[in-house]
Amino acid sequence: MAEATGELNADGEQEEAYFYRERIKCAPDEEDRLERQHFWKVIDAFRYYRIHVHERVNRSERQFRFLPEHHQMLLPNFLPNLAKIRHCVDHNQEVLQAIVLNCIHMFENMEYGEDDDLRKVQPSSTFDMDKLKSTIKQFVRDWSETGKPERDTCYQPLIDEILRIFPRDKCDASKVSILVPGAGLGRLAWEIARLGYACQGNEWSFFMLFSSNFVLNRCEEVNSMILYPWIHQFSNNRRSSDQMRPVTFPDIKPQSLPPNSDFSMVAGDFKEVYTEPNTWDCVTTCFFIDTAHNVIDYIETIWNILKPGGVWINLGPLLYHFENMANELSVELSYEDVKAVILKYGFQMEVERESVPTTYTENEKSMLKYLYDCVFFVARKPAHLFSNGFQTANRCQFEESEQNETNDDMT
Ligand SMILES: C[S@@+](CC[C@H](N)C(=O)[O-])C[C@H]1O[C@@H](n2cnc3c(N)ncnc32)[C@H](O)[C@@H]1O
Repeated sequence: MAEATGELNADGEQEEAYFYRERIKCAPDEEDRLERQHFWKVIDAFRYYRIHVHERVNRSERQFRFLPEHHQMLLPNFLPNLAKIRHCVDHNQEVLQAIVLNCIHMFENMEYGEDDDLRKVQPSSTFDMDKLKSTIKQFVRDWSETGKPERDTCYQPLIDEILRIFPRDKCDASKVSILVPGAGLGRLAWEIARLGYACQGNEWSFFMLFSSNFVLNRCEEVNSMILYPWIHQFSNNRRSSDQMRPVTFPDIKPQSLPPNSDFSMVAGDFKEVYTEPNTWDCVTTCFFIDTAHNVIDYIETIWNILKPGGVWINLGPLLYHFENMANELSVELSYEDVKAVILKYGFQMEVERESVPTTYTENEKSMLKYLYDCVFFVARKPAHLFSNGFQTANRCQFEESEQNETNDDMT
């Protein structure tokens, strides 16, 4: 890839570089305008958070005051608890402000205009507020001690497989290129780079990109930051204090990668950014493939960008993200069908576990928990796609066999 890592920022410090790869869909000017609009919409969401959550707390207070007085008297701690919740929300807002501070200079090849402190923050949609709340919980999964058990079940199987397929005592890890699409807050990609592999995370959401930039480049001391990730959960709390539990991050110094590590993050839509064929030794996807409108697009992209002999390692469920969104294409395939497509592209399934229980941003104290029964697999793009040093097939095997069938029909 053309991206350099470890660019210097304005302060002369070493920073992981972020690059914005454009999506060209309509006229470039219009595309830029929409891009800027989206960028500011996400910044607004970070700034609107406090107002939004305070409104929710105010609603609880109104409902409480509506109760008969003798019922209110039974709960002397209710209003003081709401005051504590407001305090936690205010703290979260401070962290969110810090996250978006200077974000306009985050991407080295994209300008978003000047930030204006006097610009009135626009109210955000519930949809964007939900995304922001999920992003806050993602800090727990990726960068807190609390998230370690979850990382052990989700990330460790992928890392173990990388270590098995590309053993560091038998190959030069720095020459093994690994891509992590849908990298979230970057911990998996960071861990892979920490082991010495050349690893790039790719992420599309500004919510995630602003936050990963913050943790990777701005958080220097272990557990120096506090968030209240469960503060928005008003149901299923066993104790009132559970809602106000703080989580500290980062559990490890993000700048502690060994010298000469090759780690980068690239912003943009996975299938639009990664078009260069035969580039990667390994693509690692975690809770990612169900973010596609059409999962076959992802399979095709992974097939194309893997070098012959390269591997795709996947862990995740099939909770199709666009399933319930109006006016959005969404093709919901069963794992059986996804696997059939993978095989038809020519991948060889080398490892497959159909039932790997995991959680995703779990609140361990909640009275409601979700368990994902994930699929895990390692699929290889066969090495024999090269013959006499030339690539002979960079397309689906089924295309070829269909062609053969057609030829047979004609004879
Ligand atoms: C369910 S999250 C998983 C994040 C991370 N892999 C983890 O396991 O914690 C899916 C991630 O994929 C990102 N994503 C969705 N569509 C994408 C696309 N087309 N290109 C790149 N990233 C995408 C989302 O923004 C989100 O961060």
